[in-house]
Formats: sequence, structure tokens, C-alpha cells
Amino acid sequence: TRPITLSKLQRMKQDGEKFTCLTCYDATFTHAMNQAGVETILVGDSLGMVVQGQDSTLPVSIDDMCYHTAAVKRGNSHAFILTDMPFMSYSSPNQALDNAAKLMQAGANMVKLEGGSWLADTVRLLSERGIPVCSHLGLTPQAVHKLGGYKVQGQDQAAADLILKESLELVEAGADILLYECIPAALGKILTDAISAPVIGIGAGADTDGQVLVMHDMLGINIGRPARFVKNFLTNGRTIEQAFSAYVEEVKNGSFPASEHTFDA
Ligand code: KIV
Ligand code: NA
Repeated sequence: TRPITLSKLQRMKQDGEKFTCLTCYDATFTHAMNQAGVETILVGDSLGMVVQGQDSTLPVSIDDMCYHTAAVKRGNSHAFILTDMPFMSYSSPNQALDNAAKLMQAGANMVKLEGGSWLADTVRLLSERGIPVCSHLGLTPQAVHKLGGYKVQGQDQAAADLILKESLELVEAGADILLYECIPAALGKILTDAISAPVIGIGAGADTDGQVLVMHDMLGINIGRPARFVKNFLTNGRTIEQAFSAYVEEVKNGSFPASEHTFDA
């Protein structure tokens, strides 16, 4: 199988072909995702919660992210690997460059940063140095204490307009992929149509170019009540690999996410 590249993802957007992403933190699950045809793998800082047992993503370190990225990289044959920059590892452009370099050397193909316009200079610097960037907007879990909880974002017109404006600024600065978490489905469509770069959504409706879920959530192993956007694919007597394949199939044929998994304005 040919490696999935950024240009491949851009072509898929142009052709209207949906692509998939799942979070992953180790080599064995990476191999199973490869077999199932998951195009992109996110080494998410959600590992703080699902692997480390923390109650938010804030305690995750750059060394933790490098460790899991290296494990995923060793298990990977052809998926495109995105790695999260953890809390406070990109609070200035130069700090971001140093830490992004560590993640790229550990095996990431792209780094993901949470935030809008304040990151434009950082995105520009990374981009100029040859590091692909995914910008994560909407619900940004590293800001949970500022946001006052894990809440849907962009629900009024002003908030929606701001997300669009900041997204366009980040694309202008060099962001190659945009990711939106927990926004109304209608806004997900507006953003996907307005932005030239591939758009990935989680709780952002069915119209984004790609979908992502946390692996543990889509295998039905949650600590606590799953979010509205989660679907358990480890059903009907499936193996884990078949659950990954079912997710790929449902994203590609448009049956996931259904309206029960999406938010209204
Ligand atoms: O860390 C993570 O799992 C993420 C996804 C929820 C997008 O950032
Ligand atoms: Na994350």
C-alpha cells in the first residue's frame, strides 16, 4: 500500500471522498488500523485520559507524546501520523518549533495545535521550516478550565463567524489540515466548504472531509458516559479489526455520523 500523504488527503477532499482518522497510542492497534484502511492516525493527548488515567489532557508531557508517537511509528506501514502538541508545549513560536521537531523526529508526519489566531505566527514558523500543521478549533480540551467544561462551541452567529475568520487566518499562515471538535453540524459544513485544506471533524457533523474518534470510545470502552458524538463499533460479534473496518465503511458511505451523533446550533 502506498503511504498516505498530505497531497493524497487534499485530492480526496477535491474528489469528495471521505477519509478516516482514529486515535492510537501503540504499535499493535496501529497495525490493526492499517489492515482496516484507516488513512490517518492521531497520537492524541487524549492518551492522558484513556491511557494514563488523568482527568484532563493537561498533565501530558512532550516526552509522553514522543514515546507514544515512536510506538505508533514502529507499528505503522502507511497511515499518515498526526501527533498532538501537549499543553504549554507551544506557548511561543520558538518553543513550538523545538517541541514540534522532537515529535517529527519521533515519527510524526504532522503536529496538531489547539487554538486560533494567537497561533498564526507559530503556524507560519513551523510551516516555513517544513513541518505540516493541523489546527484544532471549536472545543479545545487543553482550555477546558477556561471554557468551563467540555461544551459545544460556535453555537451563536458571532462565535461561528469567529471560528471561520480564525480558520482562514491559520490557513493563510500555512495550516494544512483543520480539525473541529463539538460544533454544530451546519457550521461544520460551512467551514468545510469555505476552507481549501482538508477538514476533520469530531462532533462536527457529517459534512467534514474526514472524521476522527478516540479509539477507546469507538470500541465501547469508556470510563463514564460517552459523548453524544461517540458510536460503539465493537458490536454484532465483530473483532476489533472488524470494528475498525466497520468505522471506515460507515464514514466512507456517509452513515456515520448520523444525526443522533451531531449537534444543532
Ligand atoms: O487527543 C485527541 O484524541 C484529540 C481528538 C479528540 C481530536 O485531539
Ligand atoms: Na488532543
